[in-house]
Amino acid sequence: MIILGIETSCDETSAAVIEGEGEKIVLKSNVTATSLSIHAKTGGVIPENAAREQIKYILPVIHKALSDAAIQFTDLDAIALTYGPGLIGSLLVGVETAKTIAFVYDLPIIPVNHMIGHIYANWLIADSQLQREKDKPSAISHTPYAEIEFPAIALVVSGGHTDLLLFNNHKSYKLLGGTRDDAAGEAYDKIGRLLGLPYPAGPMMEKAAKRGNPKKFRFPRPLIGSPDYDFSFSGLKTAVLRETQKIKDLDEQTVSDLAFATQDAIVDVLVKKTIKAASKYDAQSVLISGGVAANQSLRDELNVKCQMLNVKFFVPPKNLCTDNAAMIASAGFYNYQPVSWGEVTANPELYFS
Ligand code: KG4
Ligand code: ZN
Repeated sequence: MIILGIETSCDETSAAVIEGEGEKIVLKSNVTATSLSIHAKTGGVIPENAAREQIKYILPVIHKALSDAAIQFTDLDAIALTYGPGLIGSLLVGVETAKTIAFVYDLPIIPVNHMIGHIYANWLIADSQLQREKDKPSAISHTPYAEIEFPAIALVVSGGHTDLLLFNNHKSYKLLGGTRDDAAGEAYDKIGRLLGLPYPAGPMMEKAAKRGNPKKFRFPRPLIGSPDYDFSFSGLKTAVLRETQKIKDLDEQTVSDLAFATQDAIVDVLVKKTIKAASKYDAQSVLISGGVAANQSLRDELNVKCQMLNVKFFVPPKNLCTDNAAMIASAGFYNYQPVSWGEVTANPELYFS
């Protein structure tokens, strides 16, 4: 089965081709165009700007994904498509393009929830990307798809979501908890902005934190001991704001110290809650995904804690943590529920059903 994945939920325009056989999938191509540089100038994503860029990129990106995979539209068996959640203008570009291709080539569409898509980056076999990751000394090598065993706890940490899910098998999952206010990525971005770092601040905060003095600041760990699996990060933002208001000169070292303390608090909460869920539900695997899963401290910390609990730990290669169509195609393959083009509509408010 050859699936074309399409992802346009926010500021990335992405198309990918996967080939599935039995339980195994191989990533044939994954092409992503990003409008990040435009949003860096405005300090965040302005939805209309993101949608305009989607329109510019969608066709070239799809064509490149097909040519990289050395196939044509007529070779496709289905289109896996992000239909929500996301920005309506951006989503519509992908949805209408997919519907048109499906209509012209008589293909079924597999509608994919973007958040579930992030989780399925863990099932991709992307040899070239994995090789690059392995070259980095601190990187954790990726375990092949077949070793992901259920029950699995999945932590999705992106710019808009922080959610913990329990997967009993591919088609059966339960939301254990989510963020009550800001998502982890949002906290990174908003606090980074306070510290004068450009959008998206997550990667810059991670870089700055490496030079930070661990003893300088300590911030609260919201909801860390609560009996549920919910998260809250807006209090952390207020705590950092208060601290910055006391400081006259926010020099580079102080920014690094504050970045370290922020990251320490975020990672601590994410790791504790994920491990608590893994332990409670006797998980065989822990999977992380979403833009914040690219954070090396989170990857390293969870890896260590999962080893202690004797649970397998999975994390996608860093380039598959942020938005991409390969993960959407993967989710479509493992949750194959095709519909005809006329039944697909964008749903910007989609959550977990
Ligand atoms: O999953 P994603 O690409 O888009 C959404 O679906 O939201 O996630 C983007 C988020 C941004 O908030 C960005 O700052 C954060 O992921 N992020 C990071 C890192 N790389 C991206 N946060 C912390 N450390 C990183 N290395
Ligand atoms: Zn995303």
